[in-house]
Amino acid sequence: MKNLHQRIGLFDSGVGGLTVLREMYRQMPTESLLYFADSARLPYGTRSPEEILLFVREILDWMCSQDVKMVIMACNTSSALALETVRQEYDIPILGVILAGAKAAVKQGKRIGVISTSATAKSHAYRQAIQEINPQTQVWEIACPEFVRLIENNQLHQDYTQQIAQQYLAPLIKEEIDTLIYGCTHYRHLEKTIRSLLPAAVQIIDPAEHIVVAAEKELSLLGLRNYQFSRPTRFYVSGDPQQFASLSQQWLGYYPSVTSIKVQELSSEVMLLNNRF
Ligand code: DGL
Repeated sequence: MKNLHQRIGLFDSGVGGLTVLREMYRQMPTESLLYFADSARLPYGTRSPEEILLFVREILDWMCSQDVKMVIMACNTSSALALETVRQEYDIPILGVILAGAKAAVKQGKRIGVISTSATAKSHAYRQAIQEINPQTQVWEIACPEFVRLIENNQLHQDYTQQIAQQYLAPLIKEEIDTLIYGCTHYRHLEKTIRSLLPAAVQIIDPAEHIVVAAEKELSLLGLRNYQFSRPTRFYVSGDPQQFASLSQQWLGYYPSVTSIKVQELSSEVMLLNNRF
């Protein structure tokens, strides 16, 4: 039996999901959270759908053992490649960021650009979600394979980061998009750079803001919304806890206490597939 005092689990490959965590703090400060970063296996954006599904199942199994009341995939790549499958497999509410982002974008957008990892772009999950809501909307999906590495290495304000961002955004600016979706949770960490390169009229949609609204609705419906008080967030990583803590501090506003956990080895089946993009 779930109860409202249980934690909500969030996960990402790294620090990207902190953009969702921050929205949780802002919009639902009385909820207790558990955050897992699969930093030993980062980036997810260059992996095959089979690998992502395997990782997501491992994480969900572990999150269920931690007794969370809901899981938010604070990762677009996992949401694009695994959400539909795992939703049928687990007896717990699991939310992904893509539908929330798509719904928010079509409210005003007619010419929508989506920047994301290669895996998300290749899945066309955003185009599909957007055009299901409004088939008249035009969508351009651009992969930005360098962004996650730059963010995880804390190279947010380097000239190179600015140059590569300019390169990624150029085709979208040429198409005169009216809306840009952060199709990877890491990208909000580059907000200043991205905003400075886009025409002022282009609205930016961060699905992180909208997934939290959806999570709140779902918790209320289930009678699981906690309005009382929260306990400190628990952080777990599969990689180096110190590296995660010192990088995260700038977005969290505090130095988190981070526990290291071992993830299962990749199954030999997936290693054999070795199906990288
Ligand atoms: N932050 C994740 C996403 O939203 C994954 C990035 C990565 O590891 O490539 O897609």
